[in-house]
Amino acid sequence: MSTTKTPEMEGEVYFPSPQVIEQAYVKDWEALAKRARNDLAGFWAEQAEELEWVQKWDKVLDDSDKPFYKWFVGGKVNITHNCIDRHLKTFRKNKLALFWESEDGKLERTFSYFAVNREVNRMANIIKAMGIQKGDRVTIYMGRIPEIIFAMLACAKIGAIHSVVFGGFSVDALQGRIEDSLSKLVITCDGSYQNGKIVELKRTVDTALKGCASVENVIVVKRTGHEVPMEAGRDHWYHDMCALPIANDKCATEVMDTEDPLYILYTSGSTGKPKAIVHTHGGYMVGTYTTLKYVFDLKDDDRWWCAADPGWVTGHSYIVYGPLLNGATSFMFEGGPSYPYPNRWWQCIERFGITVFYTAPTAIRGLMRFGEAWPNKHDLSSLRLLGSVGEPINPEAWKWYYRVIGKERCPIMDTWWQTETGMFMITPTPTVPLKPGSGTRPFFGQEAEILNEEGRPVPDGEEGYLVLKNPWPAMLRTIYGDPQRYVQQYWSKYPGKYMTGDSAKRDKDGYFWIIGRVDDVIKVSGHRLGTAEVESALVSHPAVAEAAAIGLPHDIKGQAIHVFCLLRSGFTASPELAEELRQHVATHMGPIARPEEVKFVDKLPKTRSGKIMRRVLKARAQGLPEGDISTLEE
Ligand code: WTA
Repeated sequence: MSTTKTPEMEGEVYFPSPQVIEQAYVKDWEALAKRARNDLAGFWAEQAEELEWVQKWDKVLDDSDKPFYKWFVGGKVNITHNCIDRHLKTFRKNKLALFWESEDGKLERTFSYFAVNREVNRMANIIKAMGIQKGDRVTIYMGRIPEIIFAMLACAKIGAIHSVVFGGFSVDALQGRIEDSLSKLVITCDGSYQNGKIVELKRTVDTALKGCASVENVIVVKRTGHEVPMEAGRDHWYHDMCALPIANDKCATEVMDTEDPLYILYTSGSTGKPKAIVHTHGGYMVGTYTTLKYVFDLKDDDRWWCAADPGWVTGHSYIVYGPLLNGATSFMFEGGPSYPYPNRWWQCIERFGITVFYTAPTAIRGLMRFGEAWPNKHDLSSLRLLGSVGEPINPEAWKWYYRVIGKERCPIMDTWWQTETGMFMITPTPTVPLKPGSGTRPFFGQEAEILNEEGRPVPDGEEGYLVLKNPWPAMLRTIYGDPQRYVQQYWSKYPGKYMTGDSAKRDKDGYFWIIGRVDDVIKVSGHRLGTAEVESALVSHPAVAEAAAIGLPHDIKGQAIHVFCLLRSGFTASPELAEELRQHVATHMGPIARPEEVKFVDKLPKTRSGKIMRRVLKARAQGLPEGDISTLEE
């Protein structure tokens, strides 16, 4: 790559090297963009043709009942067939599908496509033996171990709908998600490791299940081997079940309608409880397959590493489904970037010859802090492409990533997307000229716009609401059990356009620059949390009468949670109480939700109708103008 200022383009631009161009699937970005612009359905049909269908679709896109779009209507398929079975007929049968290293580096596990098939079939048979049928929901709550992938695929294989809950969440979050989905089965492990310590997953499940009547069985995968209580009749060790005759290596794949749900994934939006985003077997498959292929340019000799957690959408789309659909080899690491030392990730890249690496800006900023000496101890020359996701990447972090990790050789794919979009939406492909901090332009077939409050496009360079104009195959279909909320939340502010919840700017080259959320979502270290969840954890403490949570800028985390609490009478504000409340949130919601700071107040700014004006709190905390406060109560 080379950097230049060109008269044609605004700002600092990084151009791809001839090697990058030569390798890339997409050599002529403009041509493919034009192709998709002129014939959206034709473009996506062409991508879908690369996969195998039990029965071809009658119609690519059905938009007769907007915004309930349908894709590949009339088709029959199962995503797992394309993730696994399709490859078993080729040389990929013996290809490495997945390799894994434990946090302490003492264990390594590898699985060919053939082996993944066996593991998934075995688990699918066990899940079926627990009475799970097509359409049933299964909650998965595990650490980063291969079995989480097998569990997801096993559900998909038999047509059950998985609902993965991030292993860093705690009891309230888990309980709410199990209750809402009415899962009959939970798959978990005894514990997971984090920075050398055990995270008590099974015990958290036990506590969460006290309030959940729907769950009949719990499958427990042994990872740590420490003592955990097992409830007779309900809890089953996975390894015990594997020894039973039902745990056969062969399992038929359920034939699904393309629009049948594949999974639900809970995510925070504006106000209220997290909502379950629904993704399907057909369109989601085509979307994740195509985006991963074109954006990260995966080839058979690549070694892909998406360092996210499978519990978030990034893991669903780009650890589990996308890589397997592409027949790729991927790496999964159990631990985090800096335990025991801040070279842990760089060591993995060297040791395993990673060629394409995808992570979040918060991790880059965190590792940057430890200095260049750590990555410089390692040979990172296997890398050829880098990626970023989850929050805006500040140009300083982008340049460090580019220079110190990618050695000015590897383009950085800054991919903007959401749980709801299922796949990359604004992203470069490897040959696109890059500007640090911009995800460049919408992916093929998509158009984005920046609108003002009234729904009119703002001039280039001005901030506004980011909306998407066209449907796309991996789009969410609805909110599980709440189609009205789906319409209201995403499609009603600007009818016919998808409201992203982000604010952004576009520059004169048509490049998009994401600024951040405009709703009550807080992005802490790239993790998506809702103010409402944090607030409800706070008011569950006896001392707190009312609470408001906001996200404020943080150097490493991007945003940090700050809370304002109004105490019940009889309680006095003190540093000890503040600490207790921080701990209370961590215990109930999960350590990622632990507030940075707790402030005690006598009053919260509210509208006359009683809604907390977080916007005003945020402005005050940052010493910024409070904006329109005409609705503020006296
Ligand atoms: C933010 C994560 C800037 C954005 C895949 C979005 C980003 C929210 C980027 C979705 C990026 C994600 N640049 N911001 N490359 N990627 N975001 O659902 O605010 O956890 O709306 O999905 O993350 O978060 P979610």
